[in-house]
Amino acid sequence: MSEVRKLWQDEAIYQIYPRSFCDSNGDGVGDIPGIISKLDYLKDLGVKIIWLSPVYESPLDDMGYDISDYRKIRPELGTMEDMDRLIKEAGERGLKIVMDLVVNHTSDEHEWFLKSKDPASPYHDYYIWRKGRKNNKKPPNNWTSMFVGSAWTYVPEVGEWYLHLYGEKQPDLNWHNPKVYEEVKGIVEFWLNKGIYGFRCDVINQIYKTSLEDGKGISPSGRGMEHYLNQPGNHEILRRLHEEVFAARGDSLMLGETFNVDYENGRKFQENKELDIFFIFDHMMVDKSYNPLAKPKFSVEKFMKILYDWQAHCPMMANYLENHDQRRSISRFGDPKNHRVESGKMLALLNLTLRGTPFVYEGQEIGMIDMPREEHHDEFEDVAAKRIYSLMKKFKVFSDSYIEKFVNHLNRDHARLPVQWDDSPNAGFSPEGVKTWLPVNPDYKEVNVKVQEKDPDSLLNYYKALLHYRSESDTLRMGDFVPMQLKGPVYAFSRNFKGKRTTTLINFSNQEQPLPGEIKTVSGELLFSNYGRKAVEEPSVLKPFECFLIVAK
Ligand code: GLC
Repeated sequence: MSEVRKLWQDEAIYQIYPRSFCDSNGDGVGDIPGIISKLDYLKDLGVKIIWLSPVYESPLDDMGYDISDYRKIRPELGTMEDMDRLIKEAGERGLKIVMDLVVNHTSDEHEWFLKSKDPASPYHDYYIWRKGRKNNKKPPNNWTSMFVGSAWTYVPEVGEWYLHLYGEKQPDLNWHNPKVYEEVKGIVEFWLNKGIYGFRCDVINQIYKTSLEDGKGISPSGRGMEHYLNQPGNHEILRRLHEEVFAARGDSLMLGETFNVDYENGRKFQENKELDIFFIFDHMMVDKSYNPLAKPKFSVEKFMKILYDWQAHCPMMANYLENHDQRRSISRFGDPKNHRVESGKMLALLNLTLRGTPFVYEGQEIGMIDMPREEHHDEFEDVAAKRIYSLMKKFKVFSDSYIEKFVNHLNRDHARLPVQWDDSPNAGFSPEGVKTWLPVNPDYKEVNVKVQEKDPDSLLNYYKALLHYRSESDTLRMGDFVPMQLKGPVYAFSRNFKGKRTTTLINFSNQEQPLPGEIKTVSGELLFSNYGRKAVEEPSVLKPFECFLIVAK
């Protein structure tokens, strides 16, 4: 008997970064009632699951990824009643809510951490407190934070150091302590009982530190990973949580954010029923580095090879090109100046026709792009950008313009600019005259939801049509993945299911390219062209970023 399919296996997931989505009360920050006001928009767009970045109480050092109370809603976003209403109103429209579960660390303002400062308290062992080396003058080991700099902070009143793989206001939990597991299980059940569909689990393959020995090599970020990435203890925690909490619930989702995961660990996550799907980072690292001496350049060959290899190794992928930590995909991989819409459509087609669950990040569907250079503000909101900036300044070897350029290529504020709903001042995100928490991109007059809703050729309408088409297509939802051997930067692959086939073709470059002969022989109807093409003509060239989907019935 075949297994009953889960909603996440068939439908696209839309990510909302609540601070930047829609501001209903005019304080310059998005909120939950703002999200509720856009539920019809999301339903119409054709997604069925909404993942909310953290909405819990937080001092906002890392914009909510530093939680001070897992059972409370952050007042700037609304109340628990608002959250209950969101779950209910989403449900009425057939939409499910996924929440973010951030349990590698808490905020240093969480009461567990405050209590842990007393070495005699049972909470001391909720975190990783240690004496330092060299008479307690140096950190306990040489690990560096993912956000650069030491991963340890000394607290004089405790006389010990605590570990933080991220910012110093994000102390890591001690997953060797069984009480931590019980606490997290309680939190997970609390929210599931409210009717949410599942969790996106933040940096979930780093939670279990097998040892605290020194890390190898020299790296400004993530030194020591070999002691905490994908550890057997980590797999066991996830397996147990899945078994004890999710197995009995039927349709639900455990989605992992898994940095540096390899095929073997990826297979374990799925085969051992630890995580349903997980995000890889490999393709997102092609054009970026935390090492200020490196100058990585985007290579389409590397990028596509990573995607194809994962398609071959993993039965069910979580496909994404954007999220709240990444710069906008058109700015990175497309051409925001000359081919914003064409490259946006090409990226959409790629992301939505690969095998796996596709993710769309707020604003991606209208082609929002990075903040233009002249608009850069010196004061970053992104804690990672702040840390990198001050470390580079400290070294006194980099010029200001180099620092600006380097930090800019990692700055997560780009993805967090307010969503552009219309062409009114503040782009319909906040009322006119309000100072929004991050500036509105000045291109909002041309790039916004309202304008694109009216234009049949807009990126928004392309996303809409493609999402609806995908929902109905057995081939795209369930078909296998077969790459066609073409010469980059032109790529093609087919998806096959019960004798039906769809073929995706993309020209992943801003130059014209010859139309490969192999494509001319693919029979079927040409759907989803980004240049209004109706059939595969001969002889012909592919225009910059041209893409199409051929469907053989
Ligand atoms: C994840 C989140 C990111 C956050 C980090 C630490 O990577 O996506 O926004 O800063 O974890 O929680």
